[in-house]
Amino acid sequence: MIRLWNKLSLIQRYTILSAVITVALAFVFSEAMLRWIERLAIEDEAKVGAEQVLRAIAPQFRPNDFGRTLSPQQRAFLDTVFRAKGGLNRAVRVRLWRADGRLLYSNASEPEAVQATGVNLSAQNGFAVFAERQGRVDQAAAGLVRFFVPLTIEGEGKPIAVFEIFYDLAHRLDDIRWRVLTTVPLGFFFLYVAIFALVDRGSQQLEKQKADLKAASIGTFLSLASAIDAKDTYTGDHSSKVADLAVHVARALKLPAEMFDDVRMSGRLHDLGKIGLPDAILMKTGPLNPDELVVMRNHAERGFEILLKAPLSDRVKLAVRHSHERWDGNGYPEGLSGENIPLMSRIVAVVDAFEAMTSDRPYRKGMPIQVALERLERDTGSHFDPRITKIFIQLVRKDVTLAALGTRAVASS
Ligand SMILES: [Fe+2]
Repeated sequence: MIRLWNKLSLIQRYTILSAVITVALAFVFSEAMLRWIERLAIEDEAKVGAEQVLRAIAPQFRPNDFGRTLSPQQRAFLDTVFRAKGGLNRAVRVRLWRADGRLLYSNASEPEAVQATGVNLSAQNGFAVFAERQGRVDQAAAGLVRFFVPLTIEGEGKPIAVFEIFYDLAHRLDDIRWRVLTTVPLGFFFLYVAIFALVDRGSQQLEKQKADLKAASIGTFLSLASAIDAKDTYTGDHSSKVADLAVHVARALKLPAEMFDDVRMSGRLHDLGKIGLPDAILMKTGPLNPDELVVMRNHAERGFEILLKAPLSDRVKLAVRHSHERWDGNGYPEGLSGENIPLMSRIVAVVDAFEAMTSDRPYRKGMPIQVALERLERDTGSHFDPRITKIFIQLVRKDVTLAALGTRAVASS
């Protein structure tokens, strides 16, 4: 899991993390908002209900009426009020309690137990509201709200009676729940998308700047390599041809396509270390003396050192360092042999030798292709990797233009 996480890019990690945080926030915020709005809705219903009860009851009763039992007319009046359209008809149950806790009226027949329990008016002194989300008058149901409407005489603190009213708010609360649980997450979703779009754009710009910077940095090294070619070779495109031929070989070897860039770069930069060589050695037409040979051979290591901090893969840097190793271990700088030599170095070694033999130099004509191939064949197993040499020779024999026109052959392939 941790390994998988580490493999993700920064923007992928941000996407996952921010999505998780957004979902968590949306959940917490929705729940908090839901509770708050539900509470407001219940209080609102209770206040409106209380006002309606008081407005309907007050003109019809005198304070003394609540000191004894209600008359049949008063009961009939209350029945009418609580069945009337416009708010109070939503009252599932209405009870009127006297100050001493006795039941004066109920809109339904009440069991003895309720009558005996009574209601403690001193505890309900004032306007009390609470929702019984799981409780009902007679059976469990969500959305039932119970509130008290105390009846008081002006100037006196204690109520003379209290209405206990159960309202069915299930539909309204369900509606609120549905609205909150759709709009709040949707709002968070749009917020997330907007922020993500901004971050994604910023990240793309950053990636582009990074790529530009990398390209500019690599461009500097390629320019240096080209400067060497311009001085060292006749046509000035030795490294480019080596790079293109190397990619042909990589393709024939069925290497993964994502390695082709590294193969090309190894070809382009394999002679970079020659930048520090004195012209007397670099451009010498005759054989080098032992001292000069030591200086010349140092170029592989020097190329590696120059590239050490370049934004290139280690494969490229090592390919440059070891492109003069020999299959039999008699090369330099390390004297590596066989498959201990990096694969890209072995490819570059073959195509570099071929390109050098077949191209014209100021002081000599290039060798005919057939002769160069015979030289490669002769040195296979000693200087060159036999498998790579064989594949390269087959490639060239199949396509003569590949040998003669390196770069163009690659471009048209
Ligand atoms: Fe070369």
